[in-house]
Amino acid sequence: MKNQNLITLCTAFITLFMLSACSGEKGEVVLSVQQEAAMSERLAPAGSVSLTGEVGGAPATGSGAGSRSGEEVYANTCKICHGSGSGGAPKLGVPEQWSARIDKGMESLYTSAISGFQGMPAKGLCMDCSDDELKSAVDFLIDGSK
Ligand code: HEC
Repeated sequence: MKNQNLITLCTAFITLFMLSACSGEKGEVVLSVQQEAAMSERLAPAGSVSLTGEVGGAPATGSGAGSRSGEEVYANTCKICHGSGSGGAPKLGVPEQWSARIDKGMESLYTSAISGFQGMPAKGLCMDCSDDELKSAVDFLIDGSK
């Protein structure tokens, strides 16, 4: 019985606290224009929003306009393995694991990324990546691992 009273008391306190927290703002939420725009964008059905200059939204078709940076491609797919070193992948930022590979030459590394190399899957699992995007991702990996 004692416990029951305690719980009731706690609930009352929490309710009071929440009420007072809300009434401080008169229960109204004022959104800035930007926030409203951002919100309606998020609420819009998928596919109906297209932002100019947005990267990475639509699948890249070949190289050229709208292609993702090496860093973006890395973050989207390569990181799964090269961020943790899982499955024997050389880790980003660990030069010892890359130096022997770098010695093979960039062309060879590009080819490995595009066509696959032993445990390294073709296109590094970025199936909609263009060759140029994959090369940028290799550049990003190598630059960060020297
Ligand atoms: C599923 C895990 C996985 C993903 C995803 C992945 N890699 Fe790899 N990658 C590996 C493994 C494992 C190796 C080591 C292969 C070996 O030497 O046996 C490797 C090796 C490499 C190498 C060195 C190849 C060589 O010739 O020595 C490059 C360059 C590379 N990856 C680039 C990338 C890029 C760029 C991406 C993203 C587009 C990517 N990888 C995504 C697993 C992965």
